[in-house]
Amino acid sequence: MARNESINILLVEDEDFDVKRVKNTISYYESRIRVGKVVSNGLAALNELKNSPDTYDAIIMDYQISGGLMGEDLIKKLKETDPFIQIIVITKMTINITDYDFANNLLKAGAFWYCTKYPGNIEDYIYQPTDFILSIFNAAEKKKLEKHKLRSDKRLMQNIEGLLEAKQLIGESKPIVQLKENIEKYSKSDVSVLINGPSGTGKELVAWNIHLKSNRRYENFVPINCGSIPSDLIESELFGYEKGSFTGAAGSKQGLFEVAHNGTVFLDEVAELPPNAQVKLLRVIQEGEIEKIGRTKTIDVNVRILAATNKNLANEVNTNRFREDLYYRLNVVPIDIVPLRQRGNDILMLFDHFLQYFSLDLGVEAPELDEEAEEILLNYKWPGNVRELRNVVQRLVLNCTGIITAKDISNPMILRNHLILKDETNFEELNFGQVLPLRDIEKIFRTKYFKYVRSISSSDSSAADKLGLAPSNFYRMCKELGLK
Ligand SMILES: Nc1ncnc2c1ncn2[C@@H]1O[C@H](COP(=O)(O)OP(=O)(O)OP(=O)(O)O)[C@@H](O)[C@H]1O
Ligand SMILES: [Mg+2]
Repeated sequence: MARNESINILLVEDEDFDVKRVKNTISYYESRIRVGKVVSNGLAALNELKNSPDTYDAIIMDYQISGGLMGEDLIKKLKETDPFIQIIVITKMTINITDYDFANNLLKAGAFWYCTKYPGNIEDYIYQPTDFILSIFNAAEKKKLEKHKLRSDKRLMQNIEGLLEAKQLIGESKPIVQLKENIEKYSKSDVSVLINGPSGTGKELVAWNIHLKSNRRYENFVPINCGSIPSDLIESELFGYEKGSFTGAAGSKQGLFEVAHNGTVFLDEVAELPPNAQVKLLRVIQEGEIEKIGRTKTIDVNVRILAATNKNLANEVNTNRFREDLYYRLNVVPIDIVPLRQRGNDILMLFDHFLQYFSLDLGVEAPELDEEAEEILLNYKWPGNVRELRNVVQRLVLNCTGIITAKDISNPMILRNHLILKDETNFEELNFGQVLPLRDIEKIFRTKYFKYVRSISSSDSSAADKLGLAPSNFYRMCKELGLK
């Protein structure tokens, strides 16, 4: 409490003699404690608290007062009205001061402290003044702390909600609904999760969601890209070092595991972890302690470990590139994320989500997507998954206004991989694996390709243009291919 702020008391007492004794007991500190108002019954106290919110810091109330509302019932009602108000109870001497049940019931009802009044022949004081005053100071301090805690809890909660909003996982397809259920389930415990999925499918996003829904949400989430730290630096990055532990160690450095203490470590591209770091990591998981370079004693850390990879980690184990014992420690529960092309309509949901996001970011109206364009998006294979889709939308928002058409989308500047149709491993699909003379296979390819280009063009002349053919040649070739 700042020195100039005085503590405001509501006194609930029906005997003038005791009102006087209370006032006199605190009079020595009248610059810091004042009795703002005196009421003589419970109902009046409750009304005063309701009608003057944020006015009083503490209530001093007599236990036995006139009127029906008194004692524990009154305490509960007062606390319901203002959960921060601190209540000091004063009782008649007839109450046995060693009656623990009595004291316990008062505290359970929500009282902060209680004392028994001095006998009536002591006219100046209600209770031993220093104790009485100290408990008033403590009550006011408690109120301030509780308020402060609520404010910071609220702020933290808002931060978490903001983060969850920014990190939201879009999609309603079956595999994504299942994924969200798994995230809910696994975030409730501290198990290590290995997140598997091709590049750009949302592995980091999943890790964030697990962290933000876990009890560790208020602590740090520390992502570590195991593939991008040079192998001779990885130990010092992960576990830190002490000053002077090697030439050039001018100060000591905290490792990322120390930074993540009580929070979550996300080991991205975990398959790339060099062997020496794999050994150390195993130790952290098994013993909960880290060995800092240049320090003889280990340091205890409490971290939850999430790892991700786009490689088949079991294969890495079989070929001795990854430690088997570490693999089992990381892969307590696996989460597999399916490629975007297997998520059906989620493609359009994500498209729309990014469209709104980037349009808002640029301060432009979000363009609309026409049906043909939707069709292309749904049939495209999305080798770069959600990240590729995000980039495509960003490019579209920069280039289109109004309506996004099939033509806009099939522009190689937008859908960059669009024209890479199939690689050689797919020749088998081209004619059921049969090897045909070049002329015949060319015809099959031309037919498919012509059909495709026509499907994404607004007219035959635009299709001819895309193929680099004069319209008359295009027409003739279509006829030869049986497309006219
Ligand atoms: N379901 C989703 N909803 C919304 N955004 C998503 C979703 N999945 C991925 N994203 C976004 O796509 C981008 C790529 O996701 P992320 O970085 O999590 O993928 P990744 O699997 O870790 O990729 P990489 O293997 O390349 O590291 C990010 O911008 C992410 O926010
Ligand atoms: Mg990633």
